[in-house]
Amino acid sequence: MKNYLKSDKVNDKLNNFWNTCKSYYDVMGSTEDFKKEIFYKEMQKLLGIKDSVIEIGCGDATKLRAFDNGKRKLCGIDLSRIAIQKARDKIKRGKFKISNIEKLPYKDNSFDFVYSAYVFEHLNNPEKVLSEMIRISKKYVCVLCPNFGSPLYKSPPNKDGIITNALRKFLRYFLYTFKKPIHINWLKVQPILNKPYEPDFDATCEPDILNLRYYLISKGLKEVKVSSGWEHPLSSRPTLLNMIRAPFKMLGRMRIYPFSYMGPFCFVIFEKTKVS
Ligand SMILES: C[S@@+](CC[C@H](N)C(=O)[O-])C[C@H]1O[C@@H](n2cnc3c(N)ncnc32)[C@H](O)[C@@H]1O
Repeated sequence: MKNYLKSDKVNDKLNNFWNTCKSYYDVMGSTEDFKKEIFYKEMQKLLGIKDSVIEIGCGDATKLRAFDNGKRKLCGIDLSRIAIQKARDKIKRGKFKISNIEKLPYKDNSFDFVYSAYVFEHLNNPEKVLSEMIRISKKYVCVLCPNFGSPLYKSPPNKDGIITNALRKFLRYFLYTFKKPIHINWLKVQPILNKPYEPDFDATCEPDILNLRYYLISKGLKEVKVSSGWEHPLSSRPTLLNMIRAPFKMLGRMRIYPFSYMGPFCFVIFEKTKVS
């Protein structure tokens, strides 16, 4: 397998982890669970019966399988060999590649729908992956991941306290009012790889939906759907943190800026208007 990752220790450890941890893919949920998700329904609405679909960082294809109607061309790419073996078992007619997604081995404008789910929080160079996704898409580009860049959320490796985290990220949002970002500049975090694995201990950065939205607009793509997932059941679980978040959620659900962008998820679908 060709490895494009920088060979520093953290990248080697992460790479090794995804390639050896068999149980990692057991906690991803099921295809049936994914089909109940609001995000799946939004994606499915845009897909034609015979459209070609690719999942970038497909893991074991749990999500990709949800789009299998027997007629669509389904492809997936991931650097984990164990994941791709499982994916090939799940979708026999699917086409899978083992590779780093920073350089996608496909021609320009190859797929109708190019999406990625729960991968961007693990990347070293999200902008590179996004520009590759845009390049190989002929219609839609879609990203789904946690909105760890929200002032109301943070990734497990982020050691800031709740208030410091909120202030730091509110300041970023405030600065966007004066200067819209044209690059992805998400906060970086150091993944926790020396403890028993828990979800997103392997995060390397904190995706920020607002930054992502401005970036895609700056690339000339048209907004189709942008949601920070305030309507998702996760934000209604009765926890202390959700009680603190409740007033912001109310403002967000009223679509008041910037609170509408502060929910738990980063879900965007953009359309390529010009096919180069
Ligand atoms: C949390 S899993 C998500 C898998 C799948 N998308 C899902 O939602 O079920 C993250 C996946 O991203 C892959 N990944 C992370 N960085 C990658 C990279 N630079 N190139 C290729 N795959 C990568 C990992 O191998 C892992 O399978």
